[in-house]
Amino acid sequence: MPRVLSCIQPTGSVHLGNYLGALVNWVSGQHDGDVYHGIVDLHALTVTETPHVLGNQTIELAAMLFAVGLDPNVATVFVQSHIHEHSELAWIMECTVSYGELSRMTQFKDKSAKREGDFISAGLFTYPALQAADILLYDADEVPVGEDQRQHIEITRDIAIRFNHRFGDTFVLPKAVHPKAGARVMDLQDPTSKMSKSATTDSGIIYMLDENSVIEKKFKRAVTDSDGVVAYDRENKPGVANLLDILAAASHTTVENLVDQYSQYGPLKKDAGDAVIALLDPIRTRYHELMNDRGELARLLSIGNDRAREVAAQTLGRAHNAIGLLPRI
Ligand code: AMP
Ligand code: TRP
Repeated sequence: MPRVLSCIQPTGSVHLGNYLGALVNWVSGQHDGDVYHGIVDLHALTVTETPHVLGNQTIELAAMLFAVGLDPNVATVFVQSHIHEHSELAWIMECTVSYGELSRMTQFKDKSAKREGDFISAGLFTYPALQAADILLYDADEVPVGEDQRQHIEITRDIAIRFNHRFGDTFVLPKAVHPKAGARVMDLQDPTSKMSKSATTDSGIIYMLDENSVIEKKFKRAVTDSDGVVAYDRENKPGVANLLDILAAASHTTVENLVDQYSQYGPLKKDAGDAVIALLDPIRTRYHELMNDRGELARLLSIGNDRAREVAAQTLGRAHNAIGLLPRI
């Protein structure tokens, strides 16, 4: 079974796009590989300055991952900052990557340009070294990532190759894989844009924790068009196509099965909203149960943290030995 590592930053609230586009596949895929899911809070630290926010977002994301169905006895869910090996290996990675290589990272160029005149942390620049540590610590064979992260997986491979060449075979070379495609969920108010936490208004975004009445309202107000014809045409009828896609994904059927059943937008919006409510209501209930039982949540997290720490400690030990650092006396 391949070892698969996915990481997610604890920033912003999880929405229906994240769920139907990614998390459902994490849940269904947990039995197909030896999967590790890291909540990478130290990465979020590169752009987070407000005290206490990050810890809350970390526990909320952990509760959400368990609520959607990740089973800690099957998938290893861990918190990056709880495994000190990440920071330790990151330093070694920083000493194995060059300033020039880091300077070529497009994500750094984009993110630092956006923050021009603002505080740009050195961590934002060395971020790929920490990401390389995340990946190499777990001997990951596969890292499912979108296009924006491919360059970071490439640099991880380059670092691993350089380290193995300098110090002897130590790290497994990872490869970027395309995540299994889930549904692409568009903003209900602007169906030509992906549902995204960076949207200017919340009215087109279905958050996992939205109350049922809010979900109903957002679907009722979803933007469609003035044709009055239910047909699947992403280009010319993006609003209607999005509703069909969402209804299909939420009710585990296909758009082809649905499209002939509707002649008006009203019932389509109503059914899409109802299907999403049926899908999210039990997840939200489980989420609140876990958030109200911190002991249980800590127990679930410690299962993954313990397993992750064991693997990470061995790999870091291997790296220290390969370099020939003086063993602890
Ligand atoms: P992000 O929070 O944008 O980094 O996304 C986390 C994961 O959710 C990634 O795997 C994205 O591909 C997926 N995702 C985010 N937004 C959407 C969307 N609107 N539709 C489908 N998948 C999405
Ligand atoms: N850089 C990734 C992002 O911005 C998150 C991430 C951190 C990651 N460490 C990782 C992804 C290791 C894959 C593997 O989305």
